[in-house]
Amino acid sequence: MCGIFGYVGPRTNGAELVLEGLKALEYRGYDSWGVAAVPLSFRPPSRNPKDKKWIPGQARDDKKTIIVKKKTGKIGGASVADIPASSLALGHTRWATHGGVTQVNAHPHADCSGSIALVHNGIFENYEEIKRALLKKGHRFISETDTEVAVHLIEEYAKKLAFPKAVRRAFMEMKGFNAIIAMRADKQEFVVARNGSPLVVGFGKGENFLASDPAALLPHTKNVHFLEDGEMAIVSPDNVRIIEAKTGHAVSVRIQTLTWSAGQAEKGNYSFFMLKEIYEQPGVIKMITKTGAAQADKLARTVRSSYGTYMVGCGTAAYAGIAGSYLFSKIAHRHVNCAIGSEFGYALDFLGPKSLVIALSQSGETMDLLEGVKKAKTKGARVIALVNVFGSSLYRLSDEPILIGAGPEKAVASTKAFVGILSHLVLLSFALAGEAKKGQKLLHQAAKSVDDVLGEASVKRLKALAAALKDTDHIYVIGRGLSYPASLETALKIKEISYIHAEGMAAGELKHGPLALVTQGTPCIAFLPNDETYGANLAGAMEMGARGGMIVGISYKPHEIFDHFIPVLDAGEATIIPNVVVGQLLAYYLTIEKGLDPDMPRNLAKSVTVK
Ligand code: F6R
Repeated sequence: MCGIFGYVGPRTNGAELVLEGLKALEYRGYDSWGVAAVPLSFRPPSRNPKDKKWIPGQARDDKKTIIVKKKTGKIGGASVADIPASSLALGHTRWATHGGVTQVNAHPHADCSGSIALVHNGIFENYEEIKRALLKKGHRFISETDTEVAVHLIEEYAKKLAFPKAVRRAFMEMKGFNAIIAMRADKQEFVVARNGSPLVVGFGKGENFLASDPAALLPHTKNVHFLEDGEMAIVSPDNVRIIEAKTGHAVSVRIQTLTWSAGQAEKGNYSFFMLKEIYEQPGVIKMITKTGAAQADKLARTVRSSYGTYMVGCGTAAYAGIAGSYLFSKIAHRHVNCAIGSEFGYALDFLGPKSLVIALSQSGETMDLLEGVKKAKTKGARVIALVNVFGSSLYRLSDEPILIGAGPEKAVASTKAFVGILSHLVLLSFALAGEAKKGQKLLHQAAKSVDDVLGEASVKRLKALAAALKDTDHIYVIGRGLSYPASLETALKIKEISYIHAEGMAAGELKHGPLALVTQGTPCIAFLPNDETYGANLAGAMEMGARGGMIVGISYKPHEIFDHFIPVLDAGEATIIPNVVVGQLLAYYLTIEKGLDPDMPRNLAKSVTVK
């Protein structure tokens, strides 16, 4: 839940390169940030070949201390012009776990001498006992973080061991899921170790990069090595050595080529990434309609030959799984089990070698999901990942990864990846039913319907609705069947970016409790598509209306009980897609009305790499 970026090479604007990298990664954590840089010598590099101590471009500072700049809050227009020229620099955007959001707690952290700096992603579970031992040895701590303990532990071991060995030994003592990058003032290299938290090495020409997310490497290189759990890397300007942390044995470098372009990860003319990503959705659906059919057929064969299929995901991806269960049932007359990633591990005792797990994830780095999937694998289950990020942990962990193909998603609230997953699941359900063409036809209609939702007239309506709802404290969203996950997703979008409490529910549940909360003027959103749920869901909306609720109808036709009507063109079983886009846009405009930042909502981060 943090962004990490590192540069080592001949360029001397290392701190700026790192700051730019951090800006690209800020969606991974944004409560504070920091950059550490080893300043170049203040005298020009010697050209004298006899001067053995000096290699041009190599980091050197007579006092051998690292310059560290840290700040709380978002990076925004921050500058690192006050950091001297550097060819070895490292940075971090934080999502606090241990210790409050303060400048001191921000990363990078330094050892007692100020000559070792470290950034960390993860949770160092046994840091307290190690800190006690280090305190006895005289180490001084200034922060409340677990991370600072790691850098002092390295310092301790580096008294007797070469730096990479010291990092390795310290890392092997760290319990939990962690990724660390350490650097030392007198050596132009990073020592990196990963167990659970993502890290990617990017290969340049005579220079190398490190990042927690490959998208941040795109402006520099597309050639990467994804570090596996238990791997370490020693990264210098012209060499990358990968070793197994446990044994110290060399591991061969596996270079993979990224497929996204740098432009795809930029905001362009949009004011926020979220809006850009919402508007990219018709294109995503059309692309999946064209390219996803063959994959869907193949996956359908796997589903047929499996004994029990499980769809697992977290947050929005879990709601995509619930939608998948309705699509499977309705279209393919098949049962699928749904589970939330964090709960899956407690409910998989009956999995076996014939079970199939379809793991759904945008980032492919969600720890709760990865943990469940790993457990399922120990039971022999086959794992198919429907994942957006090439080379991510889930991508590599699965027996068969399928890329969602939504392109880089940077806003914290997932939009196009969700719609991408739904599109694949529509195709899969129709492929299972032996009606692949029908699936493609419905997706075409869904794309058209989304175009309509994104059109001027519809946006005007949604903006007016957002203006009317912006001061409300609670919003209730109801649906049945496929509109039930649409309700859950709409409520999640509203709460996570506009901070308005929103509750999505199965309309039938209203009278079992939540109806007590509806009073005069309570906003109630009802999804009323042209399917078998229409009548019963309308009854739910009426029950709310009868208690004074202000009814927002999202439907293919108007009704007299609607106080606000948002039309959505029918796309059969794929109508959940445009319905959800209405929810996304409403959440977006509520957030804009309230003057908040939809891309980086408080307390959240894009990639949830801790438990
Ligand atoms: C909500 C949202 C989250 C993610 C969840 C899983 O808008 O984005 O609920 O869906 O954290 O993330 P991924 O899909 O990366 O596994």
